[in-house]
Amino acid sequence: MTYQFHALTPAQKKELSDIALKITSPGKGILAADESVGSMAKRLNQIGVENTEENRRIYRQILLTADDRIKSFIGGVIFFHETLYQSTDDGTPFVNVIKDQDIVVGIKVDKGVVPLAGTNGETTTQGLDGLSERCAQYKKDGADFAKWRCVLKISDTTPSSLAIAENANVLARYASICQQNGIVPIVEPEILPDGDHDLKRCQYITEKVLGAVYKALSDHHIYLEGTLLKPNMVTAGHACPTKYSPEEVAISTVTALRRTVPPAVPGVTFLSGGQSEEEATIHLNAINKCPLPKPWALTFSFGRALQASALNAWHGEQDNLQAAQDEFMKRAEVNSLASLGQYETSGESDGAASQSLYVENHAY
Ligand code: 13P
Repeated sequence: MTYQFHALTPAQKKELSDIALKITSPGKGILAADESVGSMAKRLNQIGVENTEENRRIYRQILLTADDRIKSFIGGVIFFHETLYQSTDDGTPFVNVIKDQDIVVGIKVDKGVVPLAGTNGETTTQGLDGLSERCAQYKKDGADFAKWRCVLKISDTTPSSLAIAENANVLARYASICQQNGIVPIVEPEILPDGDHDLKRCQYITEKVLGAVYKALSDHHIYLEGTLLKPNMVTAGHACPTKYSPEEVAISTVTALRRTVPPAVPGVTFLSGGQSEEEATIHLNAINKCPLPKPWALTFSFGRALQASALNAWHGEQDNLQAAQDEFMKRAEVNSLASLGQYETSGESDGAASQSLYVENHAY
C-alpha cells in the first residue's frame, strides 16, 4: 500500500515554487553559461583564444555585465562550479552581479556522462555521490536552482528501455536531493539531434522519454511545482532529408509535452541542441504561437544559441567587448520576444545567426 510520508514542509514547497516561477516569469528565460572547462576549450579554440581560467572569466564577465536590459530578458543564469566563485575586474562576485539584477543563480551539479555497458553507446549521468552536501554549500553560496543533463540517442536500436529507465531514475534522485536542499532542479533529459530520423520518430521517442521521467519523478515524491523541465524541441534528426516548417516542429513539440508533462510543472525551458541561433528563436516563437492549450511557460535555456554570435564578435579582443555584448543582448531580446510568441523575423538570413551550431554527440 502506498503511503505518503512527509517530504517537504509547506514553507519549503513555497520557496521552491516561488523560485521556479521567478525564473520563468513572462518574457524571461535562462542563459546556460555552465560549459565545463573542456567545453569552453572547444568554444575558445574556435575563436583562437587560449582556454585559461582568466580568459573564461573575461568571457563570462562580458555576458553577465552586458547591459541593464538583461534583467527583462533573463530570469536565471546557470553557472559552472568555477564561474560561481569568479568576480568581475573590480572584484564584485559574479553571484552578486546577477542577484543585484534580480536574476536567479543556478549551478550545474552533474559530473558528466558515463557509458552504460551492454548498450549501443548509451550513457547515464554521474554525480549523485556527495550531491546533498554540494547542494547545501551551493545554496549557502547563492544558488537557488540546479541543472543535471542526461543524454539519450535516437538510432534503430536506441534509446533502449534500460537507458530510458536509468536516466529517468537518476534525474528523479537528483531532483529529490536538490529539493531537500532548497534548490529547484532543472530536469534535463536531452535527446540528441544526431541521426537521420524524421520528425514523427523524434516526437514518439520524446513522449516515451518524458513519460518515463514523470513516472520516476512521481515515484520519488518530487514536488513538481518546484521543478523546471529542460527538454529538446521535437525536431527531425540532423541528417534527415525531409525539412519541416517551424509550425510542424511546434505542433510536434507541444503535442509531445501535452501528452507527458503535468500542468503542475511551471515552466519548460528548451535547450537549443545545435540549432542555429535564428532557427532556435523561430522555433521557440512558433511553439508559443501554437494553437493548442499550453499550461506551462515555454521559454529558453539556451547555451550555444545565445552565445555563438557574441563569441564570434569578441574573438578575445578588448576592442570588441561592446560588439560582443551587443550580439548577446540581441539574442536575449529576440528569445524573450519568442517566449511570448511576439518575435517577427525579418525573413533575411543574418549570416552568423543562421549558421548551424550542431556538434556530433555533443558533450557539455
Ligand atoms: P545548448 O542550448 O547549447 O544545447 O545547451 C544548453 C544546455 O545547457 C545543455 O545542457
